[in-house]
Amino acid sequence: MLTTTNKSRIFLSPPHMSGKELKYIKGAFESNWIAPLGPNVDAFEKEIADYLGVNDAVAVSSGTAAIHLALSLLGVEKGDTVFCSSLTFVASANPILYQGAEPVFIDSEPDTWNMSPEALEKALMESELDRRLPKAVIVVNLYGQSAKMDEITSLCDDYGIPLIEDAAESLGSTYKGKASGSFGEMGIFSFNGNKIITTSGGGMLVSDNSEWMKKARFLATQARDPALHYQHSKLGYNYRLSNILAGVGRGQLEVLDERVEARRQIFNRYYEELAHLPGISFMPELMNTKSNRWLTAFTVDDSISGVSAKSILKNLTEENIEARPVWKPLHMQPLFEGCDNYPHRENENISESLFHQGICLPSGSSMSETELLRVINSVKNTLKIKV
Ligand SMILES: Cc1ncc(COP(=O)(O)O)c(C=O)c1O
Repeated sequence: MLTTTNKSRIFLSPPHMSGKELKYIKGAFESNWIAPLGPNVDAFEKEIADYLGVNDAVAVSSGTAAIHLALSLLGVEKGDTVFCSSLTFVASANPILYQGAEPVFIDSEPDTWNMSPEALEKALMESELDRRLPKAVIVVNLYGQSAKMDEITSLCDDYGIPLIEDAAESLGSTYKGKASGSFGEMGIFSFNGNKIITTSGGGMLVSDNSEWMKKARFLATQARDPALHYQHSKLGYNYRLSNILAGVGRGQLEVLDERVEARRQIFNRYYEELAHLPGISFMPELMNTKSNRWLTAFTVDDSISGVSAKSILKNLTEENIEARPVWKPLHMQPLFEGCDNYPHRENENISESLFHQGICLPSGSSMSETELLRVINSVKNTLKIKV
């Protein structure tokens, strides 16, 4: 799609530095802790663990690496299955393939757009009958909104299946007052450039299980046995975060709560201006949860609005505004062709309709009111609403 304007670009979710990062980077330079690990890494891990109220955290090079480590720690291997939310970015499921295991995709439900407990229950019941229970369940908190954690954790507990909480998009969110990412046996976060806080690239694996976290540090540093010479008896990875990037993360963490409030404000502005329009529905926020509103997302029912999500996206693109469809469900991706998937209910696939009708709007915490109005007016113009 072509841009037909010379107006400046509005990005979906650009990095937003606070300036506080520089003191930590400077400290690393002054002490020559450039590589490999160092005091910023130790402090960043502790600060994240304290923020979430978990025992331990391991800073790694990406959220994807954190998921991969979690699966390795749980012993996922060839021949195993892992259940995973379908409505997510491919990185949630790629590590299942790295381990040679098979993903089974679980649909969303309408209240959170996240994993449907009904579909999960059916999948667990059937896999038990087949004597092929999954080795793990990966639940994703889409765009900052927590999944129905009470129902999902209780199902996983009933079947004795460990839960990995993919909280890559939901740092700073809460479910019933408890931090997002602290619910599963392990949780993961991403500090990729587009996330609510960033280290330019990075991730975190968190857990209350200190033994696992000790093992994660070992696996993430090439599984080096304690010997002066380089001795290895297990397969390891080069997944640790650098001391400089951890410094960026520490500076960003200082402003996380401000960033959450800014994104929630942006959501509220879009909501005020667009939610009452015919056929438009915004991503809900489940009662007793607080979403960081990483991305503002809404759906358009073209049978009511007379305009498709595609036309809105086309016009936004032409106006040099970066907007995206809601994630294409993983069970629809060619990479995962042939993998099982469980819809929310028979003949009711929620993630597919969210994909066809859903749009994510620019939501960066540094967005100005003028930029917000440009986005709002573009959507209204497509809907032929007078601005
Ligand atoms: C839901 C989800 N899971 C996992 C990831 C992977 O994180 P990273 O890009 O840090 O590897 C991302 C984002 O990129 C994500 O949005």
